[in-house]
Amino acid sequence: MPLARRPLLIFLCPLLLIPASSATQQPAREARKIYADYCAGCHGAGLEGGSSPALLGENWKHGGDEASLTASIRDGYLETGMPAFGASLSELEIRGLVVYIREQAGHATSRRVPPPHPDPDTVASSRLHSYRLETAFPGMREPWAIAFLSDDRVLITEKRGALRLIEKGVLRAEPVAGTPAVDSGGQAGLFDVVAHPDFARNGWIYLAFSHPQKNPGGKNVCLTSIVRGHIKDHAWTDEEIVFRAPVEFYRGTGGVHYGGRLAFDRAGYLFFSLGERGQGRDAQNLTVPHGKIHRIHDDGRIPDDNPFLKTPGAFPSIWTYGNRNAQGLRIDPVSGELWEHEHGPRGGDELNRIRRGLNYGWPLATFGMNYNGTPMTDVTTRPDIEPPATYWVPSIAPCGMGFYTGDRFPKWKNHLFVTSLAAQELVRLELKDGKVVDQEIIFKGIGRQRDVAAGPDGFLYVLLQDRVVRLVPAD
Ligand code: HEC
Repeated sequence: MPLARRPLLIFLCPLLLIPASSATQQPAREARKIYADYCAGCHGAGLEGGSSPALLGENWKHGGDEASLTASIRDGYLETGMPAFGASLSELEIRGLVVYIREQAGHATSRRVPPPHPDPDTVASSRLHSYRLETAFPGMREPWAIAFLSDDRVLITEKRGALRLIEKGVLRAEPVAGTPAVDSGGQAGLFDVVAHPDFARNGWIYLAFSHPQKNPGGKNVCLTSIVRGHIKDHAWTDEEIVFRAPVEFYRGTGGVHYGGRLAFDRAGYLFFSLGERGQGRDAQNLTVPHGKIHRIHDDGRIPDDNPFLKTPGAFPSIWTYGNRNAQGLRIDPVSGELWEHEHGPRGGDELNRIRRGLNYGWPLATFGMNYNGTPMTDVTTRPDIEPPATYWVPSIAPCGMGFYTGDRFPKWKNHLFVTSLAAQELVRLELKDGKVVDQEIIFKGIGRQRDVAAGPDGFLYVLLQDRVVRLVPAD
């Protein structure tokens, strides 16, 4: 997504989202304004402190987690001069302040400790490994996903619709001919590419993309669709439709939240993500495909043990729901479990362990707020909602992710790497028993990224806006 489109996203989303709950008669006020009116006099206009301590996360006295911040604001510390705001601010407004403080503190932390911003071919260090950044494939345009077919064949999708082939390290000048037409306005485009688990035998390649068509009313609409095909003589052939929703589920072209990530599990089921297309409520509605993770057979048939087959009217491929816009979906090489991440609103991007039939909460529970700074809901967790394994406030805008399965960075073995758009960060996470036990920013600020994967050569490949780079060990 080009930078110029961000304002569109920012203004669109709050209009399309319906606040899930409203604790007060008055509409909830914007967190930044409440802060300026009620808090800045003591804590400083930029939270840097004044007569009272700074709120930028350097050393919280009473705790910087959600619950502690909420308690500090609601109950105050009357003896030491922090007023209690429980009577003058609603739960929803206090929730907005908590997100706002965490967001500002997060930005301040990355200013204090700037993450590595490596120049090409210089050595950068991280906690477990030093590395050099090499340009692997220059001359790309908004690459979205990468798939290694063999030791010397690589496929890369570009958002505008091109499928690029690299053979023996050389990028073919022309894209693969005859791939499906895509709509690429807004966040739409050509999305993930994956090879069938049995690719060496059957040659199937899967593509997810925003499929445009006219609806019966003559309006241009589109939705994420999946096809598979073979590549012969640099052309896309034998195309079969693997997933295509009925046209009534299509929404206007361009716009937001398509999902579009694909992942085969060890049993050979194909999982894919479909975003809620900007309609938060659809993520909770089992009769529509939007805002869900889906599960199908490799040829598109519906598995007979999908969780909602007996639910009247439910869309049969649904595996989980309440997923806002998932652009990361991968199988953990150790446990075989499916992991997903999804964009939150402002704050509240989530990393989730995806398990059959569960509700992941959007838009009923979130750690984020509306793009305009007003709170969305004061509910962050609920007994019937699966909580994220971790979440990001401020938002990083996570895109593709990949487990590192190579041998060249032994201490990174099986760690999860997450790319990001807005924050331009490559994040490393270590998972254990379904939990995140370590997290580190590997680099930041060299551009937006949409995918990361270990190559068969053991290097870690990252897709930037205009090129693909690889991390090469320099220990
Ligand atoms: C009259 C001055 C004053 C105002 C107004 C005020 N605070 Fe405070 N605040 C304090 C003082 C003093 C402390 C330190 C109390 C202590 O540590 O015992 C504090 C502590 C806090 C803490 C805990 C910090 C930590 O290190 O754990 C938070 C969070 C906080 N304030 C948030 C707010 C917010 C949000 C507002 C506005 C809604 C606000 N404060 C308004 C004076 C103020």
